[in-house]
Amino acid sequence: MASKVFKLIAKEIYRQKYGLEMIPSENYVSSDVLKALGSILTNKYSEGFPGRRYYGGNEVIDEIESYAVDLAKKLFGVPAAFVQPYSGSPANFVTTMAVCDPGDVVMGLSLSSGGHLTHGARLNFSSIFYKAVNYSVGEDWKIDFVELEALAKKHKPKLIWVGTTAYPFKLVYKKFRKIADMVNATLVADIAHIAGLIIAGVHESPAPYVDIITTTTHKTLRGPRGAMIMVTKRGLKKDPEIISKIERAIIPGTQGGPHNHQTAAIAVSLEEAFKPSFKKYATQVVKNAKVLAEELGTVSEVHLILLSLVDYGYGMGYQAQYALEEAGITVNKNTIPGEPVSPFYPSGIRLGTPALTTRGMKASDMVKIAGWIKRALEEIRGHDLPKEQKKRKDFLKDFKKKIHKNKNLKVIKKEVEKFAGKFPVPGIK
Ligand SMILES: Cc1ncc(COP(=O)(O)O)c(C=O)c1O
Repeated sequence: MASKVFKLIAKEIYRQKYGLEMIPSENYVSSDVLKALGSILTNKYSEGFPGRRYYGGNEVIDEIESYAVDLAKKLFGVPAAFVQPYSGSPANFVTTMAVCDPGDVVMGLSLSSGGHLTHGARLNFSSIFYKAVNYSVGEDWKIDFVELEALAKKHKPKLIWVGTTAYPFKLVYKKFRKIADMVNATLVADIAHIAGLIIAGVHESPAPYVDIITTTTHKTLRGPRGAMIMVTKRGLKKDPEIISKIERAIIPGTQGGPHNHQTAAIAVSLEEAFKPSFKKYATQVVKNAKVLAEELGTVSEVHLILLSLVDYGYGMGYQAQYALEEAGITVNKNTIPGEPVSPFYPSGIRLGTPALTTRGMKASDMVKIAGWIKRALEEIRGHDLPKEQKKRKDFLKDFKKKIHKNKNLKVIKKEVEKFAGKFPVPGIK
C-alpha cells in the first residue's frame, strides 16, 4: 500500500497549483532541482570536506561539493564558499561561532524592524550565548543609522549583521561598512531574502563591503532548502584564519554529515542562476512587487511588501492572513515597525512576488491580484482584536467560524483558483 504521505503530497500539490503563494521567502524550484533533491545522494555519509572526509566512498560526493562551491564563488565573486549549512539559521549560528567567543556583543536589526531571529532576537541562540544589541528602523521604516552608529560606539560589537527578513527597501552596504570600521567589527551580510536579486544585478552586491556573506538557497535564489556561507576578499584579509574557523564551526561545531542531495540540488540551482533567464526572472520579481505595492497603496524596492493594516482596525494581521487564506491567497501576518499590538497578533502582513513570478505572472496580473487582496481585506473590517488579552482566544474562534462561511471570500477563491490554475508550476503536471 502506498504511504499515506503521498496522498497528503497530492493535496499540497493542489494548494500550490490553485492558490497564490505570496510568502516572500518561498519559491517554486525547477524539476531538475527536485530531481537532485530526491536522488540517492541522500544515502551517503560524508563528514568533513572534499578530500578530507571521515568516511570512504566519497569520490563522487567530493566532486559534487567542490562543483557547488566553485559555482557559488563565481556567482557571488568571492574567494571562499561553504555549502554544507543545513539551512539559514544554522549558517548564521556557524558564522557567529566562527567570529565570536561566547558572551561577545553581536548587533543586528530588531525583529520588529524586519530583522531575523538569528541576528540577536530574544530566545534565539544569538542572544542566549552572545550579548545581543538590536538597532531598528525609524518612523520612515528605514534603518536608523544615527542610532546604529551610537549603539555600535557604545557596545563595541564583534559582529554586525546587515540583513533583513521583512524590509521593503534596498540596503546600502557602504553605510554599514563605515560604522563597522569605526569599531573594528566584522560585518556580515545575510542576503537570504535578496540573493536572487543580487545575482540579477537588481540589488547591490555586498561582496565589496562586507567580510562574510550568508544566505539561504531557497528564497529568491530558487534552490532547495539550504544555505551557504561565503568569505569575501576583505574578510580573508581581516582574519586569515576565518576559513578554518568556519570549517570548525560547521564540524565538529554544529553539524555532522552534510546533506549531499541538498548540496547537489544547490549546485543545480546555482547553474540555473547563471542563465540569462534567471536575470530576467529576478528583474521581473522586483517589477511585480513595485506594481503590487503601488496597487496596495505602499512602496517596495525589492521583492516584498510590508503592509500596515492599522487603517482596517486594531491588531488585524492574524485576521488578514486567515481571510486571505480562505480566498486562496497565502501571505503571513507580520509586525510593522513600532508594532502597536504584539508579535503574536501583529498589525501587518508580509507578502511578495518571487513564487508568483516563477509561474510567469507579470505586472498586469499583479493588478488583478491586488484587487482580490483588497476585496478580501474588506471582509475583516469590524473584526478588531479585543484589547483584553483573555478575550482573544474566544474572539479568534468565533472570527474563524464566521470567515470560513463568508460568501464573498468563497467567490474570490473561485476566481483565484481559475486564474492560478492557468499558470504552470515547475515540477507539477
Ligand atoms: C534573513 C534571513 N536569514 C536567515 C533565515 C533563516 O533561514 P532558515 O529558515 O532556513 O533557517 C531567514 C529565514 O526566513 C531569513 O529571512
